[in-house]
Amino acid sequence: MTENFTTTQTGAPVASDEHSLTVGASGATVLHDAYLLEKLAQFNRERVPERIVHAKGGGAFGTFEVTGDVSRYTRVAAFQPGAKVATAARFSSVAGEMGSPDTWRDVRGFATRFYTPEGNLDIVGNNTPVFFIRDGIKFPDFIHSQKRLPGSGLRDADMQWDFWTLSPESAHQVTYLMGDRGLPRSWREMHGFSSHTYLWTNADAERFWVQYHFRTDQGEHNISNEEAEALAGADADHYRRDLYEAIAQGDFPSWTLHVQIMPYEDAKTYRFNPFDLTKVWSQKDYPLVEVGRFTLDRNPENHFAEIEQIALSPANVVPGHAISPDKMLTARVFSYPDAQRYRVGTNYNELPTNRPHAPVNNYSQDGQLRHGFKSPEAPVYAPNSFGGPTADPARAAEGSWESDGALVRAATTLHPEDGDFGQAGTLYRDVFTPDAKERFHETLLGQAGGITREDIRERFFQYWTNVDANLGALLRERFAAGDAGSTDGAAEMAGLV
Ligand code: HEM
Repeated sequence: MTENFTTTQTGAPVASDEHSLTVGASGATVLHDAYLLEKLAQFNRERVPERIVHAKGGGAFGTFEVTGDVSRYTRVAAFQPGAKVATAARFSSVAGEMGSPDTWRDVRGFATRFYTPEGNLDIVGNNTPVFFIRDGIKFPDFIHSQKRLPGSGLRDADMQWDFWTLSPESAHQVTYLMGDRGLPRSWREMHGFSSHTYLWTNADAERFWVQYHFRTDQGEHNISNEEAEALAGADADHYRRDLYEAIAQGDFPSWTLHVQIMPYEDAKTYRFNPFDLTKVWSQKDYPLVEVGRFTLDRNPENHFAEIEQIALSPANVVPGHAISPDKMLTARVFSYPDAQRYRVGTNYNELPTNRPHAPVNNYSQDGQLRHGFKSPEAPVYAPNSFGGPTADPARAAEGSWESDGALVRAATTLHPEDGDFGQAGTLYRDVFTPDAKERFHETLLGQAGGITREDIRERFFQYWTNVDANLGALLRERFAAGDAGSTDGAAEMAGLV
């Protein structure tokens, strides 16, 4: 029987975990105490860089089971009738660092993975169906404005509102963010969205544009600024704890996955550009179609190995699901694998949490921490005449769309409703209940109080006037009368109160 001895990383038993090797009991430590050196050096390397965004999060594993029939729209293996595949999910906040309180007002990440028999399919979305910008070239500037000032290291309302008010396409998402959805009660009780449009292809090579909606089976519940602020102090890990404990107690959260499906040709003539990430498609035009149930029933055994190192990416597509011309999505196809090579390492897809449940066959080799390799007879280049894997030309047409025109730097304005403020106004006027409207007013007044520069505050009022003239007038009037509204913990952090 093997004794349960501590060993070095190379498997040799060690003599002590309490005493370094020294010259006499109170003498100098010697350099050849290899185990001491290894122990300290390993410790120094325990951290990898946190995600540049969505650093604070938590996740779990489970299954996806098909309950609808979308086989006439897509040939994604995991979405065919009768299919059941393993899944992973990671939920997160966008702006805060790895240790930041869960309940600061923010958009929440809702990232899912389907380990399908034809490779990993990742839908990396949020708890809102739209986004702040519509072109990836603005993403680093947007994120800088939401993070910290270079000098003080503090978050800053002036730079947040400066960016938003100079980027009017943000209005729809900022309306969601400042509304109830900015403070979910738990990750289990929020919906998730692909936000982007993707391209589905069926077995007959017919194409459809789709948007994914994960509807929470727990019911949607949000909390107030006051509750969020109290929780930020009392339990900074509130969301992570809630998810972990629910699963540990056998109370498995689930979401019903639906899609909106747009016939391929409709995209050209729809009321607005359906690849504009600041817009939602009307559910009257494109109703929800059920696909299946996404259930989380297994906690990670090791948060770092399985959740911190998970590398979710919209670039992970499978036959039947492809990228659309959305400029944000195409930028993300570069950004995620690049971040993951830097954050986790070149061969991150070989880790158990990332390894696909499908064979991996290509000619990439070597690199830091390479684990898998083929037989020495296998050829290392393509084309070859030694029986190595070959690409399938029949797949060349899949995921393609037409694109033509001069190279320009401009946003689409071809459709009648391509403007920035229309859908934000509709969300405020027609979707928010009277109570939700009042909480939204209070939150915006709290935000206005944090802006120190007059010109930015003026643009703030104009921005909300553009969303809805009555809303703008109401905010101006109440602010002038000294109404300070209400704030959550994040607002205090940003120096708003
Ligand atoms: C994480 C970039 C837009 C949702 C990340 C990461 C990067 C990134 C580099 C860290 C990845 C990692 O280290 O594993 C970008 C860029 C965008 C963009 C360049 C725009 C061009 C979006 C949008 C959404 C989104 C529109 C939602 C619809 C997420 C989520 C995560 C994430 C949920 C966390 C994934 C996880 O849990 O591991 N993003 N992002 N991002 N992003 Fe984005």
